Amino acid sequence: MAICYNLPVFQMRHLKVMQAVEDIEGKLVRWLDSISRALTFHELELIKVETIGKSGVLTLAFKELMHLSIDDKKLFGERLNRAKNSIESAIANRLKHIEILTITEKLKNETLDITLPVVNGQFGSLHMITQTVRRIRDHYHSRGFLVLDGPEIESDFFNFDALNIPKHHPARQSHDTFYLDGLEETLLRTHTSCVQIRTMMKMGLPIRMISIGKTYRNDQLDSTHSPMFHQIEGLVVDRKGITIGHLKNELKKFVATFFEVDEVDIRLRPSYFPFTEPGMEVDCRYTKENGRLRITKDGDRWLELGGAGMVHPNVFKASGIEGPAQGFAFGFGLERLIMLRYGISDIRVIFDTDVRYLQHYA
Ligand code: DAH
Repeated sequence: MAICYNLPVFQMRHLKVMQAVEDIEGKLVRWLDSISRALTFHELELIKVETIGKSGVLTLAFKELMHLSIDDKKLFGERLNRAKNSIESAIANRLKHIEILTITEKLKNETLDITLPVVNGQFGSLHMITQTVRRIRDHYHSRGFLVLDGPEIESDFFNFDALNIPKHHPARQSHDTFYLDGLEETLLRTHTSCVQIRTMMKMGLPIRMISIGKTYRNDQLDSTHSPMFHQIEGLVVDRKGITIGHLKNELKKFVATFFEVDEVDIRLRPSYFPFTEPGMEVDCRYTKENGRLRITKDGDRWLELGGAGMVHPNVFKASGIEGPAQGFAFGFGLERLIMLRYGISDIRVIFDTDVRYLQHYA
């Protein structure tokens, strides 16, 4: 219906809204049809914008209602609402349908057929942590050590008390321990030294074992720290006759195997660990060649590798060892060894899932 310009204003408004409502009702079937056939979120969005969006035709028509009489408001308001409701529910229904379509499509495209032959000879490989753990295990197996495990969730008895680190000992603070919510005195082990206690309690003497596993400390992730890292723990104990000389020999053999050199020079530097007496840092000689580190017996520098010492009498006592006992223990950070061996300067590279790193170090 055409608008007649010599009518009074209120009549013109009435006509204008009536025309808009009829227009909307006329297009409604087409919109509903387009909605029911939309295949993408974008298509739906376009229809929404055109109709019930901020400047959509229905929204504008609703705005015009305020100039009308109460009766007209009611009449046209109801008709507009009906159209709006049917558009809204059609869009909501279609949206669900498109979501399902999208997921189904995605699943179809991302299906992996593991029976297909390998293309370009690209096989997977073992992660450098797995490779390193295996190499270290092999080395110690060949030297008559048992390879044992311990739990990652520990009590503070095994992680601290039994290792001669009592409740208010400063060493507890320096470990930045993760405690488990709601479980008193339960924590993520901060080192693998707890396995020393568990082994002595379970097996008694003599002992010749290593343990490799995950350890946790509340450290910010940066180039040299990670809240999760691995340690290697070693323990050799007998009634008598285990000396620092044996410790040094064992360390030398390990470092030589790990860095694949014939001979190495090891230095034991006095240090303090509550569970050892005496305690020491383990250093080994190296040189720098074209910026690269090389472990060699004749190196002019010393590299710090880890901690070691003779087992403290209080540790034997806490582990239930009665009578004479003598032995050594050592602990190394696995990631540090990996970084030195592979020439990696950022620990995050080891935990990154970037396939290029993984392939490079495979
Ligand atoms: N547990 C120590 C740490 O996490 C490392 C260590 C030092 C282990 C001396 C030992 C040891 O067995 O004897 O820093």
